[in-house]
Amino acid sequence: MAAHPADCPPQAGRGARRVQKILITGTAGFIGFHLARQLLAAGHRVHGYDGMTPYYDVRLKQQRHAMLLALPGFTATEAMLEDMATLETVAGDFAPDAIIHLAAQAGVRYSLTHPRSYVETNFTGSFNVLEVAKALKVRHLMIASTSSVYGANPEMPFHETDRTDHPLTVYAATKKAVEALSHSYAHLWELPITLFRFFTVYGAWGRPDLAYFKFTEAILRGQPIDVYNHGQLWRDFTAVEDLVEGVVRLLPLAPPVPAARATPVEGDSLSPIAPWRIVNIGNSDKVHLMDFIGTLETLLDRKAICNFLPMQPGDVPATWADCTLLQRLTGFRPATGLAAGLKPFVDWYQEHARR
Ligand SMILES: NC(=O)c1ccc[n+]([C@@H]2O[C@H](COP(=O)([O-])OP(=O)(O)OC[C@H]3O[C@@H](n4cnc5c(N)ncnc54)[C@H](O)[C@@H]3O)[C@@H](O)[C@H]2O)c1
Repeated sequence: MAAHPADCPPQAGRGARRVQKILITGTAGFIGFHLARQLLAAGHRVHGYDGMTPYYDVRLKQQRHAMLLALPGFTATEAMLEDMATLETVAGDFAPDAIIHLAAQAGVRYSLTHPRSYVETNFTGSFNVLEVAKALKVRHLMIASTSSVYGANPEMPFHETDRTDHPLTVYAATKKAVEALSHSYAHLWELPITLFRFFTVYGAWGRPDLAYFKFTEAILRGQPIDVYNHGQLWRDFTAVEDLVEGVVRLLPLAPPVPAARATPVEGDSLSPIAPWRIVNIGNSDKVHLMDFIGTLETLLDRKAICNFLPMQPGDVPATWADCTLLQRLTGFRPATGLAAGLKPFVDWYQEHARR
């Protein structure tokens, strides 16, 4: 069978220059898999670290890792972040130039029923990554945070310097805690850190727990889909290819320095006293949930049966990213429209995930 376009290693991103050794946590996950492929295609060496947690179908994670292991330059360890001895040994042996920390207990709704796994993975696990990065004096530590930290801020679009003091879920609270913890490490140990705030990412090899995946599954089976807040939700949907391009372009840039020692770009989120910065990566657009469902219906050529429900606890009515900082730093801003961005997911789903 001919290779599906979503299975082919991507082309090297324009941001990638010097070959680097990059330790990525969460490479069996959706975003880590795509990011690792892109960095390998650019000639970098990547060591993946992933605990293969059973939050969703582990076979999907194994498939992603198997594809990465077939590519030159990729090695991997299957272990939990909480296993500090293994993390220290693996990171020490690989001696990375940079660490990109993506592994997390993700998912807003699951955090209502399983809060402990968020504290253990997101807080304790990230603490271990910070300790390792400090000990190895890595050139740049990059950490995934989330648009969920903006909570229900009414001011839109969300800017990196907006207040994020009122998280609505344990997921958001643990991510916010990691943002704060990482600032102290950046300050105390001069550890350069970039935090990404990602906005609802979708694409081929995507996450089965997210709405776009569940909607597709249900629409194709002729089953109803749960539509919360009676459809009155808006999300900034980001194509995974755009998100990866943003990260790949940030990687070779000079790591952050304290604002007091830098010439910050306009609207920069640099800390005044630490080499620490936050960068939104979203599509700078908010899409109404019913328009999103309509786009899926068109691509699948099927009508959705909508089961309209009230707002879920902890959910936010809207997310919308201001990506001016990303553009000023890298010259790039995600701009893939929903129909073009969802097509690779729908194609992949119909070819792979339904089997
Ligand atoms: N996908 C999105 O829409 C989105 C949006 C905002 C932020 N993020 C953030 O981006 C990052 C990547 O998300 P994703 O969508 O790829 O999620 P994912 O669940 O597909 O990937 C996370 C990976 O981390 C691994 N993992 C979880 N806990 C671990 C632990 N304790 N030790 C070792 N490995 C562990 C899992 O096995 C999984 O493969 C996460 O930090 C997430 O919070 C994602």
